[in-house]
Amino acid sequence: MDKIIKVFAAASVSNVGPGFDIFGYALNDIGDTITMSKRTDSAIDISCPGFNLPTNPNENVAGVALQAMLDRLESMQGFNLAISKNVLPGSGLGSSASSAAAAVFGANELLGNPFTKTELVEFAMAGEALVSGKPHADNVAPSLLGGFVLVRSYEPLDVAKLQYPKELITVIIHPQIEVKTSYAKEILPKEIPLALAVKQWGNIAGLVSGLATSNFDLIRNSLKDVIIEPVRSHLIPGFYDLQNIALTNGALGCSISGSGPSVFALCVGEEIAEKIETGFGSVYDKLEIDYKIYRSFINDEGTKLIS
Ligand code: HSE
Repeated sequence: MDKIIKVFAAASVSNVGPGFDIFGYALNDIGDTITMSKRTDSAIDISCPGFNLPTNPNENVAGVALQAMLDRLESMQGFNLAISKNVLPGSGLGSSASSAAAAVFGANELLGNPFTKTELVEFAMAGEALVSGKPHADNVAPSLLGGFVLVRSYEPLDVAKLQYPKELITVIIHPQIEVKTSYAKEILPKEIPLALAVKQWGNIAGLVSGLATSNFDLIRNSLKDVIIEPVRSHLIPGFYDLQNIALTNGALGCSISGSGPSVFALCVGEEIAEKIETGFGSVYDKLEIDYKIYRSFINDEGTKLIS
């Protein structure tokens, strides 16, 4: 009987304030698990019990990502994949990215690791293109590599893990509504005024520097998105109440996770995290919107084999 493996791939927060399409960090214990084995034929068999997701490999992010990898290897190897999801698609927490990351990581493992984790990012991105209409790596890269990741360039693809203070805690609230990534991308401006761009890249540089030097004031002043958040915030009920509660309770910053509807805050200290969690919950209790709340340190390991 052929080897059966289990892979965990983390969910992630992307954009992280000013870093649209270029920043992301991975979460602990929140993500997808895939059980995977090689087949004796060339078929890719996908199951995802409990979720209404396409099982046709050409329409499933994990299938498309896996196929991109097999095409590069010119391989006809088939696989069985049983995907166990614990984050809903359309959450803004890189749900599709974690399936794609787990699939390529698992196949790589079963094929004797022809690729490094960094090389797998490009294949996992092919799955993202299926969901959002445009390949982006700010979820798949942190999901695979772990940590706080910068996508410095897409052509050619160049990703780097950034230094960050290990005591950072993220609190995330996920209202149980769906925002389609493709729609959240469509509504974005195609051009931006130079003055706004200047503010944004100042914040990007400030955030990278603040993270590297554990300068929490610099992180606080830089964790701001003046381009994307004002447009997408309308898709998220109570967004500015959430942000206000997080900031008044001591968060370093609070913005939209990926394309939403999840909203993240970054902070230091369990006490502050607790207050933000309670405050976040009270906003949606008042609005009578169901939600899930997550709290996590940044996961530095990324996608891993669990058995
Ligand atoms: N950077 C992407 C976006 C992430 O904001 O559209 C999608 O989850």
